[in-house]
Amino acid sequence: MSFHKVALVADVKENEILAVATRIGSIALTRIGSEILAFQNACSHDDNPLDDGILDGNQVVCPRHGARFDIRTGAVLKMPATADIEVYPVKISGDDVMVDFG
Ligand code: FES
Repeated sequence: MSFHKVALVADVKENEILAVATRIGSIALTRIGSEILAFQNACSHDDNPLDDGILDGNQVVCPRHGARFDIRTGAVLKMPATADIEVYPVKISGDDVMVDFG
């Protein structure tokens, strides 16, 4: 695994999605309680950025056509998307959010 700093812990807030640019493209960060989650910032249906989406517990809803994904597993939960999205391991190092892009 190779973790890279992508943000400060303080910048990732509950009920918000933070988009960050990385060497693999944009990824999305959010917080559920003390846990920070990282996922692909592009809907698998037609690439709409998911940081424009709506959070619903551990799910994100794409604002364009309503596809829904589990942001812990990446699993697609609602059409029109049929493919999962990527999710990435996260660890906290001091004040930094570190993500493994694989
Ligand atoms: S682009 Fe996300 S549901 Fe169509």
